[in-house]
Amino acid sequence: MLIPRRFQRTSVALSVLLIFFLLDIRIVFCVINLGAEVFCNRLPGLTQKQREMCKTSPDAMVAVGDGIRLATEECKYQFRHHRWNCTGIENPSSFGHVVVVGSREAAFTYAISSAGVAYAVTASCARGNISACGCAPGPKMREPGPSGWKWGGCSVDINYGIRFARKFMDAREFEGDERSLMNLHNNKAGRKAVKLNLFTECKCHGVSGSCTMKTCWKTLPNFRQVGDSLMKKYYKAKPVAATSAQPGPRGLDAQRKPKKVNLVLKKGRIPVKKMPKKSELVFLQMSPNYCERDLASGSLGTVGRACNRTSKGMNGCNMMCCGRGYNTHQFTKTEQCRCKFHWCCEVTCDTCSEKTEEYTCK
Ligand SMILES: *[C@@H]1O[C@H](CO)[C@@H](O)[C@H](O)[C@H]1NC(C)=O
Ligand SMILES: *[C@@H]1O[C@H](CO)[C@@H](O)[C@H](O)[C@H]1NC(C)=O
Ligand SMILES: *[C@@H]1O[C@H](CO)[C@@H](O)[C@H](O)[C@H]1NC(C)=O
Repeated sequence: MLIPRRFQRTSVALSVLLIFFLLDIRIVFCVINLGAEVFCNRLPGLTQKQREMCKTSPDAMVAVGDGIRLATEECKYQFRHHRWNCTGIENPSSFGHVVVVGSREAAFTYAISSAGVAYAVTASCARGNISACGCAPGPKMREPGPSGWKWGGCSVDINYGIRFARKFMDAREFEGDERSLMNLHNNKAGRKAVKLNLFTECKCHGVSGSCTMKTCWKTLPNFRQVGDSLMKKYYKAKPVAATSAQPGPRGLDAQRKPKKVNLVLKKGRIPVKKMPKKSELVFLQMSPNYCERDLASGSLGTVGRACNRTSKGMNGCNMMCCGRGYNTHQFTKTEQCRCKFHWCCEVTCDTCSEKTEEYTCK
């Protein structure tokens, strides 16, 4: 059977994701004790390089699994009001389809996944759970800060997390075609978003709480903040096209040096000679409207999705249902109400019932 190359690759990528969802972390730990060699050889879908990384740092693989899970949860949260709602990222058949189209949604998926891995590995280092890393000295540790504070304590080793995520997540993008360039770019933007969202925490020293001396360190934000910042980038994602960066060398050299392929921004449909910023998300193809079910383009359709009748946003019934209309479901909610406290110690409540309606797309 002929399987397009792109699809072969995405199925490899998905089985990597899938394995982390299916394997309980405790089982992973157990298997690691049995031998990283055996464990890593049996994990399906890893590239050769990923398998080697697995063998040299099996403890970091647990964090990779955590990171992917974290990223999936965050993606679902961020897209809960959208037609495309991240469903199927953990489901092999539909994740494959999402990834097939080089859309904005694919850009977000890649960025949040590599952010999740960089984040989880960094967090795991700080907990002392990965032998190869731990705390990082704060930036310019010896220099006292401006107002009597200095770097100290345990700053998170974000550079280790980022390096690990880069090696591991980028390892599957080896083709050098426009789609791998897109994925690599978005992976990098995702990792960068973690670093940009680090914040500084400080502790005061001094007589009875006077803050004559402060020790400060860098710490990880809540992953929600990373998700929020990548969501902003999703809205501002830039269309790109692959092209050779400069006109290649002429004459004899032209045969010897292959032209380097780069991504450049597009104005309308025309590629312009300008590279996207490293922090921006980029996409190659316009997204489908996700109204109808069309697995070939990664769309599950919105039939049966809950919508909000009064909202003017993406989750409003008009937008969500793409003008097909919606079904109204009426039901009665009963709950305890008018609760009174009697001395001592009894609470009595009435039962109230309330009619509510819910709407789902036709
Ligand atoms: C490593 O991680 C596990 C599970 O997350 C945790 O229970 C354990 O305390 C961690 N080990 C260290 C040294 O922090
Ligand atoms: C997301 O979309 C899928 C497919 O349309 C649907 O089955 C699922 O219930 C949705 N999830 C949420 C949380 O709305
Ligand atoms: C529906 O949208 C309106 C307006 O945005 C909002 O006030 C209301 O809380 C929403 N209802 C539900 C059930 O989310």
